[in-house]
Amino acid sequence: MDAEHLKSTARLSVAPMMEWTDRHCRYLHRLMSAKTLLFTEMVTAPALVRGGATHLLRFDAVEHPVAVQLGGSDPAELAEAARICADTGYDEVNLNVGCPSDRVQSGAFGAVLMKTPDLVADCVAAMIEACAVEVTVKCRIGVDDQDPAAILPEFLDKVSAAGVSRVTIHARKAWLQGLSPKENRDIPPLDYDLVHAMKAAFPRLHISVNGGITSLEQAQAFLDAGLDGVMIGRAAYHTPSDILLAADATIYGGGIVKTPEQVVNEMRPYIAAHLAEGGRLHQVTRHMLGLFAGRPGARHWRRVLSQGATASGAGLEVLDAALTEVTQRPLAS
Ligand SMILES: Cc1cc2nc3c(=O)[nH]c(=O)nc-3n(C[C@H](O)[C@H](O)[C@H](O)COP(=O)(O)O)c2cc1C
Repeated sequence: MDAEHLKSTARLSVAPMMEWTDRHCRYLHRLMSAKTLLFTEMVTAPALVRGGATHLLRFDAVEHPVAVQLGGSDPAELAEAARICADTGYDEVNLNVGCPSDRVQSGAFGAVLMKTPDLVADCVAAMIEACAVEVTVKCRIGVDDQDPAAILPEFLDKVSAAGVSRVTIHARKAWLQGLSPKENRDIPPLDYDLVHAMKAAFPRLHISVNGGITSLEQAQAFLDAGLDGVMIGRAAYHTPSDILLAADATIYGGGIVKTPEQVVNEMRPYIAAHLAEGGRLHQVTRHMLGLFAGRPGARHWRRVLSQGATASGAGLEVLDAALTEVTQRPLAS
């Protein structure tokens, strides 16, 4: 996929989320929106290069456009990992400069890299050199006691000089000491104004905003205000029907709006194939629990599906039973 097409598809993206945006989740999300850019969970460069963990890169052809997110801080290792990802067929390779988890800090990558923009520039330059697909960055506005208004322009200046033309900014700091990864997604205050200021300062850079966005209306407002893209994480996962079913029509101006029931039915062949190759029902259906969020019967759908799908040998009959709860008990809550 060429860079121009990717730019337009990046008007909306579903954030990379460890344990959540695995290949089953992305397959589901792709059925819900043909256009939204999807991201993998973070895969570490050492796992790919030293551990040969290429099974982590498995994806289905329907997932395009799909970006893989890498974690790492060694330019040569990231370059090799990027090459492997591009050869595997990913449309984009993204470098994680935003994740504050302990595991990631111990490897000296993720958000801590906000402190070493020259190293990030070396990393992305090596990745760009090594692979033919677009290399992008997902970052924070700063970490710890950094002054975002001072360091973010310097950071963007360096990564764009190194050849990156698209970044996603999670509009809050990460506090590397004292907050858990989860708290780091809620407690540091959001500063959307700074992201708008970065767009004004770097008009040629494609900038997506991320953090705390919970509706398509909010996403559209950011686009209307001049940002190039919006990345949504938790809301896309927990309320996928609100975010993704209308995304093609609202954000991209075209496409069919499916119902959640249609999506469930379209998932059946995929689930059957997964079961046939020895997979467990729950591995796929755990990502489907939010499909009916806000609708009568949603609670029953979640209960029947989450309890039934973990039983050994559980099959499509559990999905049928859960669907009956929402389609035939319209007055239940
Ligand atoms: C369960 C979970 C796992 C996450 N894993 C990653 C990750 O692997 N890489 C990354 O850059 N961000 C990760 N994030 C952060 C999200 O990509 C996103 O930046 C954050 O959730 C803020 O967006 P939101 O408010 O729309 O959820 C994760 C978030 C969650 C909830």
